[in-house]
Amino acid sequence: MTVSKVAIASDHGGIELRKSIISYLESVGISYEEFGPEAPESVDYPGLAITVSEKVVNQEVDRGILVCGTGIGMSIAANKVKGIRCALVGDTFSAHATREHNDTNVLALGARVIGPGLAEDIVKIWLETAYEGGRHANRVGQITAYEDSQA
Ligand code: RB5
Repeated sequence: MTVSKVAIASDHGGIELRKSIISYLESVGISYEEFGPEAPESVDYPGLAITVSEKVVNQEVDRGILVCGTGIGMSIAANKVKGIRCALVGDTFSAHATREHNDTNVLALGARVIGPGLAEDIVKIWLETAYEGGRHANRVGQITAYEDSQA
């Protein structure tokens, strides 16, 4: 599936990287919905991660991208939303592997961990790489089955 629209959010720790990723999205013609602060005052990441994740599960956007200082808080919060498979990625190998193997629909990045150049490469690869299915489908299905078994 070609990605044509993403939801993107950051907390205060990820504003600059969020803006740099948005420049990339604009340069390749991917539309976006943006959430998160313009000013550097502290904001809490959980609500932002959940807002983006709900956009994804409600199919208002194709994928989500989340940025905080480490990417960890955002990824933990996103993975609480039923139907979300969020990966915190800091290298290009994982960027394609997590699409091919895990069919991740949300990407988390740590703005205090990686620079804008690597982040752009990760975003590009993650957006362009297809899910392989096959032997991975049963594994991803086990995660979905567990989610479905919960109230
Ligand atoms: C905010 O200080 C920081 O905790 C947040 O950006 C993120 O790294 C949380 O996981």
